[in-house]
Amino acid sequence: MGLYKFKKINGEKVLIYDNMKIKVLIDEKKLRRRVRELGQEITRDYKDRDPVLVSVLRGSFIFIADICREIKIPVTFDFMAVSSYGNSKVSSGIVRITKDLEFSIENKEVIIIEDIVDSGRTLNYLVKNLQARNPKNIEVCALLDKDVPRKTENKVKYKGFDIPNKFVVGYGLDFEEKYRNFPFLGHIENEQ
Ligand code: IMP
Ligand code: MG
Repeated sequence: MGLYKFKKINGEKVLIYDNMKIKVLIDEKKLRRRVRELGQEITRDYKDRDPVLVSVLRGSFIFIADICREIKIPVTFDFMAVSSYGNSKVSSGIVRITKDLEFSIENKEVIIIEDIVDSGRTLNYLVKNLQARNPKNIEVCALLDKDVPRKTENKVKYKGFDIPNKFVVGYGLDFEEKYRNFPFLGHIENEQ
């Protein structure tokens, strides 16, 4: 416990913290640069369209805070929370809405802002659920796309990074609700 500190092990930046060995996968600078690019793409595509950014809590709270400041057109915000039952590292695919949107999205241009697409089941469920509310259209912006075999088609239009099939934490993503505040994206190597 205590403060977190980095170590260099075999040339790799590693964090030893809370009995965990966490390797930096994407550092702050890379995250910032890519988030800026995504914001610029959305700015270009959505000029004069007044989109509503729908953020999926809690994992995307840092991503939406950063990307929205790179979007230079008027946008509105709404928030949803979902939980997918399962153990701490594997999602079960059974999705439950724990907090719904405050506003109607009927006839609105919706951009879903997600942290990560793993099996894709959460996103699939969300898109279907929101589609039923008759928006003008829905696009998906996801920071991370995990390299896992999927049966469903990938609906992500704005994607930050492809990442390997590893469990990652930081920049909003958690392991058992911890590590969301890491400014970088890390991968838990082992539980010591
Ligand atoms: P999916 O339904 O399998 O695509 O899982 C999506 C949700 O599981 C994400 O929105 C995250 O909340 C969580 N998740 C999936 N992979 C990771 C990970 O590597 N680290 C932290 N959370 C993850
Ligand atoms: Mg999430």
